Amino acid sequence: MNRTKMKRVNKGRSKKTIVTAALPYANGPIHIGFLLEAIQADIYSRFLKMSGCDALFICASDMHGTPIEVNAKKAGIDPVKFVDKYWKEHQQDIASFLVSFDNFYKTHSPENKELSEHFFSELKKKGLIYVKSMDVIFCKNCDRTLPDRYVRGTCPLCGMADQYGDVCEGCGSVLKGTDLLNPKCSLCGNFPQVKASPHYFFKLSAFSARLKKWINSKSADLQPEVKNWLKEWLDKGLEDWCISRDAPYFGFEIPGSKKECGEAKYFYVWLDAPIGYISSTKNYCDKHNEPNQGNKDNKHKSCRWEDYWKKGQINHFIGKDISYFHFLFWPAMLMAMKISLPKLTVHGFITVGGQKMSKSRGTFFTAKEFHKLYGAEPLRFFYASHLQRRVADIDLNFDEFIAVVNNVLVGKLGNFCYRSLTFAEKNYADLPVPEQNKNLTRKVLSLAVKVKKNYSALDYQSAIKTIMEIADIGNAYFQNAEPWKNKNDEKTKKAVAWSVNLARNIAILVSPVLPEFSGKVYASLSEQNLTWDDLSFKWKGKVMKVPLLVNKLEKAVPKEKFPLQLAVGQVVEVNDHPNADSLYLLKVDMGKLGKRQVVAGLKKYLSKEDLRGRKAVFVANMKPAKLRGELSEAMILAADDGIHVGILEADKTSAGEEVHFEGTENARAEITFEDFLKIIMEVRSGKVWWNGKKLAGILEGVKVHGINDGAKVR
Ligand code: 2FM
Ligand code: ZN
Repeated sequence: MNRTKMKRVNKGRSKKTIVTAALPYANGPIHIGFLLEAIQADIYSRFLKMSGCDALFICASDMHGTPIEVNAKKAGIDPVKFVDKYWKEHQQDIASFLVSFDNFYKTHSPENKELSEHFFSELKKKGLIYVKSMDVIFCKNCDRTLPDRYVRGTCPLCGMADQYGDVCEGCGSVLKGTDLLNPKCSLCGNFPQVKASPHYFFKLSAFSARLKKWINSKSADLQPEVKNWLKEWLDKGLEDWCISRDAPYFGFEIPGSKKECGEAKYFYVWLDAPIGYISSTKNYCDKHNEPNQGNKDNKHKSCRWEDYWKKGQINHFIGKDISYFHFLFWPAMLMAMKISLPKLTVHGFITVGGQKMSKSRGTFFTAKEFHKLYGAEPLRFFYASHLQRRVADIDLNFDEFIAVVNNVLVGKLGNFCYRSLTFAEKNYADLPVPEQNKNLTRKVLSLAVKVKKNYSALDYQSAIKTIMEIADIGNAYFQNAEPWKNKNDEKTKKAVAWSVNLARNIAILVSPVLPEFSGKVYASLSEQNLTWDDLSFKWKGKVMKVPLLVNKLEKAVPKEKFPLQLAVGQVVEVNDHPNADSLYLLKVDMGKLGKRQVVAGLKKYLSKEDLRGRKAVFVANMKPAKLRGELSEAMILAADDGIHVGILEADKTSAGEEVHFEGTENARAEITFEDFLKIIMEVRSGKVWWNGKKLAGILEGVKVHGINDGAKVR
């Protein structure tokens, strides 16, 4: 490279850059879907840092909104404590996959409050926010306004019953809660009312032209799929956006709202969430500006969030489901605030074995579960091998996953690096400068340039392919050189030295994807944290002992997850439900799972004597719910062939013991009644089946009596 060109590159390198992954809700465990995004963004951040760029990788917990408020209340925990628990847990889960944020902050923070209020007051000053009365759905019984998602009713367009108020699963129409026929509050089941309530609106409509211009500009650099969606949305016309919510809400109260609206209003979670990207940056900068904080990182001693957001380059990584917020609302706000517009990269969804990730299908994996099975780098490698610039869903098929890891990662990449380094370590106290090997060296270095371009273009799939081409060159070279034949020849030593240099270069190239793997290679060469500038064939010296770089994975596919926790319970008491003729109220001893009250709809079919003292199979992970005013903390399973109804008897099993469908593992996570209804269990030949698997020990342990084949188990 000539000097002027080098200077230009270096100048580009120092540009302050932000990389973000979308902020996960502090409302449940991290799952492998979020990890796709976190890993995609982490690879990019590592790539930029290795290129000498002043990049910060920023994220936070998204802590506000109705679901969090409702779930914290249900759990009987203060929402601040509720979200903090997830904040801590998320950091551990994410870090276990070697995703290395510079800052993982929170949206329920003083910085975010201050910045959200600042955005609000600035936008208001510019005449971009106004108050307008709108119809909201209000449940008198719960004394709260219901977000669309918390109203259920019949779709006015296709007549499908029991639909959420935001979208109909029957016809896919986007709805408003007020559109539903026969609406019901999903929290208490009562009929809600429509009432008028004043709310704050952001004039999104005023940004149509500017947004159109932006999405067509070179700087937006949109993926083609995204460009099409945006064109469609913009052609349809933009409506102003309601940015406030009624109490009770877990969020920031809007200053002045009591006066202006007659009651307190809160910032809608989607207003303060993206501002959380900035406040997390601010928190990082402020921490680094504090004297005596023992910051080794002098580079960021006097940084300000504005240096990044007003002068730098912003890179957001998001899932396709949150495109509307990130391509329309957020840039419009940024335009108004004179903050740099972001470059957005959108990824598709993860499917598992071709199916949508879902708890009821057993295709939902938390980060913890996956890490326990396979560790971090196999998933990082698998995701990187599939991520391209195109917005495409990625299927995590376990056979393919194992094959990619064992044949490509372990068989090619790991094998070459381990073999050449170990050979050098065992046989040479000191390696000389390698053989010149002009053609191959040139070829490898030109492939290395290609790898860098692939990373830069967010085409990780091609980066991995190119790295594999290099590994193939290495494997063939080492094999041909047959160094084991004439170990002490000068020529052999130089050939091994070339292979070691190649392994070192491969470790550099793959380090954004496999930081641990690369770290082990560096350590064997007594080096660390290498960058693109270290790519060379000039390394010489002593190779130290090399640990195993990657492990072959067991072919065994993890036990399929059955979405329910099935356990045996003994019915201790049977009473009539005080408010419902068809229901019993059971007291059930579930051994180590505790004593539970269960509402059972069995009165029509079974007498109290049929149940009293019996041991039967219960769903122990049902989300507790009030049924006609009585708490139900588990569910008794029964088989129903249309004529007969019988419990799943388990008289020989102790209370509290779990029963399983063959080859499956019971779930622990709570399941809702709606999700329960999606699970299909059936009786065949006196046994209970799910997905072609038999409920184990059904004849000795668990029985159904006098029930015909085809009976559904509910
Ligand atoms: O969809 C989600 O999971 C949101 N919590 C993402 C927020 S990203 C950003 F805007 F804060
Ligand atoms: Zn209600």
